[in-house]
Amino acid sequence: MKKLQNLISALILGCITFLYACGGGQSNSSSQDSSSKATATTTETPVIDLNAKSESKGVGKFTSVQLGPIDASMAEKGKAIFAAKCSACHKTTDQKIVGPGLKGITERRTPEWVMNQITNPIEMEQKDPIGKALLEKHLTQMTFQNVSDDETRQILEFFRKNDSIK
Ligand code: HEC
Repeated sequence: MKKLQNLISALILGCITFLYACGGGQSNSSSQDSSSKATATTTETPVIDLNAKSESKGVGKFTSVQLGPIDASMAEKGKAIFAAKCSACHKTTDQKIVGPGLKGITERRTPEWVMNQITNPIEMEQKDPIGKALLEKHLTQMTFQNVSDDETRQILEFFRKNDSIK
């Protein structure tokens, strides 16, 4: 008789664990529901694939940037500036922190676009279609980090170097 009682309580415990596990699953799927609702409300603006290659030069003072072979010493300088002024919000992998991961940035954007984003982020968010879509996705404004034009060019060189390493 004792054995039977043990068996029954084991079964009940098993059922409770099972229900609990299912409950957890349900709460996951409901959070997915709410995120898909959030994207559904923003479909009025044309849908932009942020990972697609764009030829846009963006909005700002850089309209023509000439590139040569990757300059290692410029890239080193850019790396140090990135560590000091950008790394709180960006990784150079494809992983997002506050802002998007920047791996492949020189493949999906033009040099001019990248340099305008760095020196003119607020106007880019307001006027550039990709900038607008980025703000909508990340819900945080990137602000100007007080970098000079030369430093901006060095950061671009660092991104080119980062993207040359597969
Ligand atoms: C306060 C956090 C923050 C800092 C600091 C910051 N960014 Fe950003 N960055 C963002 C966010 C958020 C976005 C996306 C929304 C937007 O564009 O405003 C972004 C977007 C970008 C993009 C466009 C990415 C893409 O996929 O097209 C580039 C390039 C970029 N940042 C470079 C930099 C560089 C270089 C620095 C340092 C000089 C920097 N950011 C500093 C938050 C930041």
